Amino acid sequence: MRRALIIVARTMKNIVILISGTGSNMAAIVRAAEAQRWGERLGARVAAVISNRPNAGGLEFARKAGIATAVVDHQAFDGREAFDAALRVEIDRHAPSLVVLAGFMRILTPGFVAHYAGRLINIHPSLLPAFPGLHTHQRAIDEGCRFAGASVHQVTAELDHGHILAQAVVPVLPGDTADALAARVLTQEHLIYPRAVADLLRQL
Ligand code: GAR
Repeated sequence: MRRALIIVARTMKNIVILISGTGSNMAAIVRAAEAQRWGERLGARVAAVISNRPNAGGLEFARKAGIATAVVDHQAFDGREAFDAALRVEIDRHAPSLVVLAGFMRILTPGFVAHYAGRLINIHPSLLPAFPGLHTHQRAIDEGCRFAGASVHQVTAELDHGHILAQAVVPVLPGDTADALAARVLTQEHLIYPRAVADLLRQL
């Protein structure tokens, strides 16, 4: 009787995180991946952190965590198409199952978004669909909002649109400044983003 040899090749689901600055959301995801043993439990790992700014603070955190880092400096490119093409090459080196925008402050071209359709997500510091774009906290205060928050969403070609995957709500307190409100929202971002990433990884 012939014996069949079954080889189960388990491929890791790679997460690539894009940052532009501090990278505290990226750090929250990296810490959650470690603390919750995503490698064992979800077959997933943070494979790379890529920044469009060479001096992004988050790069140092990622390096220290033993994660591959890269910089694709948008200032070195002549236009969005050229930058997005170079960014795509850098991302695709890691064969990502999920591309996570974490404080990545670039508008992406429709071609780039289409290439990662269904596996490109973002966190935005407002209760979308309210306040897409910049200065979300000051705008919420100016409008007299009693509540503010953050949204994790699928990325589409339209800025800060796309199916909402998770939201967190915080109160706007009397006398709040944009910075105070941003800090309150950010603590919630650090909770919902890792959770939303883990939820998606389970579905992939
Ligand atoms: C976060 O508040 C994130 O929601 C926001 O930038 C901050 C980045 O902080 N993103 C956007 O405004 C995207 N439109 P972090 O670098 O510490 O994660």
